[in-house]
Amino acid sequence: MADNKNVFELISEIKELAKKRDAVILAHYYVNEDVQEIADFVGDSYYLAKVAKSDPHKTVVFCGVTFMGESASILNPDKTILMPDDNALCPMALMVDQKKIEEMRNKYDDLAVVCYINSMADIKALSDVCVTSSNALKIVRSLPNKNIFFIPDGNLGRFVKDRIPQKNVMLNDGYCHVHTRITADEIKALLEKHPQAKVIAHPECTKEVCDLADYLGSTKELIEYVKDDEASEYIVCTEPGVNYEMRNVAPDKKFYFIGASGICVNMKKVTLEKIRDCLKNMSPVAYVEKERAKRALKPLDRMLEIAK
Ligand code: 13P
Ligand code: SF4
Repeated sequence: MADNKNVFELISEIKELAKKRDAVILAHYYVNEDVQEIADFVGDSYYLAKVAKSDPHKTVVFCGVTFMGESASILNPDKTILMPDDNALCPMALMVDQKKIEEMRNKYDDLAVVCYINSMADIKALSDVCVTSSNALKIVRSLPNKNIFFIPDGNLGRFVKDRIPQKNVMLNDGYCHVHTRITADEIKALLEKHPQAKVIAHPECTKEVCDLADYLGSTKELIEYVKDDEASEYIVCTEPGVNYEMRNVAPDKKFYFIGASGICVNMKKVTLEKIRDCLKNMSPVAYVEKERAKRALKPLDRMLEIAK
């Protein structure tokens, strides 16, 4: 970790290099605060996918996990997508395979494979449409198919299934190890200490946690909720990286998070030094093989079209 003087130098180096490389810096709400602070755009997966596509710069520095960089690369075959740390993996993105999808397609003629954006490109390429946590309900409702195979996240899938009972939403057993570590008992203990607090949660949390929540939403939706809502204290059931923006939009409110076990270590791998280095070396780059990228583009484009 750099000291203050070095941080200042590091930031000006990053700014200069970004200008030279015609680069925009995008960051997810879960990355380190100093990275969120220097990013040009900070947001949830859906917002960042849209910005990566509409932004005019030739180079995108994607401060997040690898599926995010891959998605940006698929959506922008003519741009260079830099990943400050290409080992920042989301384990959930690997929790479904081709065999499972084929088995389901063989069972149901009228099957839509709905793929959470937290998945790798080879899986997107086999899917009918992508979703993020902020548009999954809208997209599944809009599909003509009755039978839906929702991959890879079983918890977001259950959130969709419970709200769209007219569809036969079938679930996969993938999960986020960060969100599923948050327990109902921890929330109840915090509620005893802060009885006035509202509980807000990401739909990647377990059913027991979601059932205790006053509001469920994507990272961006949770931030918007605390900004506009009348309460003054919240128990926040998602990765604590959102605390930075929550404090910015609602400086007088109090936010309580569930312990260190709720940290996404992969998101925290992105550092200012790595941003500087990737801009210097123009590497590592998020790479998706051309044919696979072409096939994965369809479900991503379909998501952007329906969700707009
Ligand atoms: P959002 O789409 O809400 O940003 O969530 C992404 C993610 O990885 C949650 O764990
Ligand atoms: Fe993946 Fe969970 Fe981290 Fe989100 S919080 S990137 S789903 S491991």
